[in-house]
Amino acid sequence: MANKSHFNSGLKSLNRMNREGRKHSSFVNTQEINETYHFLSIYDSIKLLPKIPDNSVQLILLDPPYNLDLDTWDSFENYLDWAKQWLDQIYRILKPEGNCIIFGGFQYQDLKKGDLLEILHYSRHNTKLRFTNLIIWYYKNGMSAHRYFANRHEEFVWLTKTKKYYFDLDSVRTPYDEKSKVLALKDKRLNPVNVEKGKNPTNVWEIGRLNGNSKERVGHPTQKPLEIIRRLVKSLSYPGSIVLDFFAGSGTTGRVCIEEARNSILIDNDPKLSEYFNKHIKTVDTSLHDNKPKIYFDSGIEKIIQFLTNDIRN
Ligand SMILES: C[S@@+](CC[C@H](N)C(=O)[O-])C[C@H]1O[C@@H](n2cnc3c(N)ncnc32)[C@H](O)[C@@H]1O
Repeated sequence: MANKSHFNSGLKSLNRMNREGRKHSSFVNTQEINETYHFLSIYDSIKLLPKIPDNSVQLILLDPPYNLDLDTWDSFENYLDWAKQWLDQIYRILKPEGNCIIFGGFQYQDLKKGDLLEILHYSRHNTKLRFTNLIIWYYKNGMSAHRYFANRHEEFVWLTKTKKYYFDLDSVRTPYDEKSKVLALKDKRLNPVNVEKGKNPTNVWEIGRLNGNSKERVGHPTQKPLEIIRRLVKSLSYPGSIVLDFFAGSGTTGRVCIEEARNSILIDNDPKLSEYFNKHIKTVDTSLHDNKPKIYFDSGIEKIIQFLTNDIRN
């Protein structure tokens, strides 16, 4: 049977729009950003989320606990009963053009604990979120195994609120090497303008996991690599928009938001978030964007709600 991509009418109409100089309905005209705002809140997300206004956030980026007993925050009686409480809030909080990423893995199913399969199944059947992509994070460094194939990937799902979700592919294209570029320019199926911009990075991302002695490390046991978070922040949100991470851990998301001129709201019920985030700040790459970040440590919920409400009004 023919693959669905053989009938990719969406791609054809996008190419036609580009040729005619028209913009897709998800296009956002971004402005120069000189100042960004970052709120850190030590709070239980389950209690805080119902207070966040409707249609207020561009990107929700989540790396939730999976009941793996990795730490004290990682143990639940009934995982899905707990997870439903935050999953049910995502659709309401996202802007119509908003995106949501949930990190996870499928490798733990035998433990009958929580995993990304359960999250995806629940969100497909019980929420209005649209399942847009499954991204495989492939890495070469990992544990060895003898009774099964050693695991070398984790996954994350990309969920959207509507078909008009924001996606800036150009901001994350990967350059062709000289040889493959010559070949790609000869390929009649490829648009030469896009070849010049670089390749679609596809939904398999080869990015190393952080070693114990990695320079990026700030001390959180499950810290995610900057390169992954940056690719997501750049492609699924735009400068000046609002990114929410309510399982913030060390605040990797907020750090990338400072560097990429997005606003961020970071929530974690572990007070160590501030300590980790202070370490992130010390190594922020100011050459990426010279916006002036205003950081509110231990921000009250009222301040966050006021910021979101003002943004909706503007
Ligand atoms: C997997 S870690 C996130 C790591 C993060 N991506 C990073 O790069 O540093 C999950 C975090 O969720 C937090 N957490 C667990 N339950 C929570 C809750 N109910 N409310 C807020 N945070 C919670 C934990 O304290 C932990 O730091």
